[in-house]
Amino acid sequence: MIKYIEKTPSADEFNFLTDSVGWGKRENSIVETALENTLYSLCVYDDEKLIGYGRIIGDKTIFLYIQDIMVIPEYQNKHIGTGIMKNLLDKVNEYKKINPAIRTYLGASKGKEHFYEKLGFISRPNDDLGSGMILY
Ligand SMILES: CC(C)(COP(=O)(O)OP(=O)(O)OC[C@H]1O[C@@H](n2cnc3c(N)ncnc32)[C@H](O)[C@@H]1OP(=O)(O)O)[C@@H](O)C(=O)NCCC(=O)NCCS
Repeated sequence: MIKYIEKTPSADEFNFLTDSVGWGKRENSIVETALENTLYSLCVYDDEKLIGYGRIIGDKTIFLYIQDIMVIPEYQNKHIGTGIMKNLLDKVNEYKKINPAIRTYLGASKGKEHFYEKLGFISRPNDDLGSGMILY
């Protein structure tokens, strides 16, 4: 049975997911610090097996950032990614009670824009906003 649970995964679990979606692994200490500093972590289990994850980072009242939406390949295209996003957006709506003008960002991987557009996200640049930018 598929269950969505608010929970911080272990570094090994997180690395299992990132590796299985092709993003590789990081040192456990790096992952642990990132997860400790995460506002909200959501794990998806099929019985005891971790099969998906998503998280929100940010300051709770002005800016939020959705990151690391992952579903392992054998479970993709079964609406689990959508389920993760809906759970995270419920949490965003809780933060919105403190400041309705809170802004929620994410950076879509190449080719994944449509997945997020279906959930209401818009791409930039547009008439009002400049490009999203990144520093490597
Ligand atoms: C992207 C990802 C999280 C989607 O999760 P999922 O459980 O496979 O997606 P869903 O089954 O909920 O799909 C929902 C809708 O989005 C569409 N969609 C899913 N993946 C898509 C993709 N790569 N490109 C375009 N549309 C996509 C589906 O067709 C579906 O549309 P429908 O409702 O009309 O059938 C998952 O494929 C994944 O983990 N990919 C690897 C990691 C990754 O790239 N994460 C995103 C980082 S920005």
